[in-house]
Amino acid sequence: MRIHDTIAGVRAALKTAGRIVFVPTMGNLHEGHIALMRQARQHGDCVVASIFVNRLQFRPGEDFEKYPRTLDADCKKLVAADVDYLFAPDETELYPEPQRYVVEPPVEHATILEGEFRPGHFCGVATVVMKLFGIIQPQAALFGKKDYQQFMVLSAMVREFALPIDIIPGETVRAADGLALSSRNGYLSAAERAEAPRLQQILSRMVAAVRAGQRDFPALEATAQTELEVHGWAPDYVAVRRRLDLQFPAADDTEFVVLAAARLGTTRLIDNLEI
Ligand code: PAF
Repeated sequence: MRIHDTIAGVRAALKTAGRIVFVPTMGNLHEGHIALMRQARQHGDCVVASIFVNRLQFRPGEDFEKYPRTLDADCKKLVAADVDYLFAPDETELYPEPQRYVVEPPVEHATILEGEFRPGHFCGVATVVMKLFGIIQPQAALFGKKDYQQFMVLSAMVREFALPIDIIPGETVRAADGLALSSRNGYLSAAERAEAPRLQQILSRMVAAVRAGQRDFPALEATAQTELEVHGWAPDYVAVRRRLDLQFPAADDTEFVVLAAARLGTTRLIDNLEI
């Protein structure tokens, strides 16, 4: 695997790379990322990963400073996953001057769910991904469905800007007890880690209820929130939405997703299940 930390270097290296499939990450790689790398191989000639902890998508007081930076271990995993190139710039390379030009997703995408609790987050994500797309110039890019709203926002961005990039979803990878893999799981204490699978269990019960015909979504959401609170969680939201654009389901919608974000101690976990 070739590693580049400059824009000029990675651009030069990729000039003759054929069909480039790109997997942007913030590092601290786990099996979910590695599954994306392996999936990427099926979609092109050259698999490019990036590692960059993007300050723009963190709010003041969030975990930007403590976000784990584990480049050496990540490189070993990427080599084992047969990744061809890693782009790992530092902040001065990607943001040599304040990033005044940004991608501002529409409010109906960016201020709901995650965006309600992390204002500005999707502007930060869309801006860095647009910039990375400009640098790597991939023909395809993969994003995990664990960040369901991120996938929706980036798919819409690529569609509305007519970027010639196929956006490919990756399935969420889970631990044996159902907890969705996330770099933030490492923040959990042993007791919190034992409690954490409850989020997925509650979502699974909501899925079963909707499949059984339950359409009183506010009641389902309220029950789920209460159950989380009873077990010591602080939920931000539990929501049944339509898959297409994460808006409230209309009477004739048939494809749903149930999404949740909740804090366990100081760790904020998110998860979702499609219905
Ligand atoms: O999902 C992530 O890890 C980040 O949001 C991304 C897409 C790499 C942008 O910083």
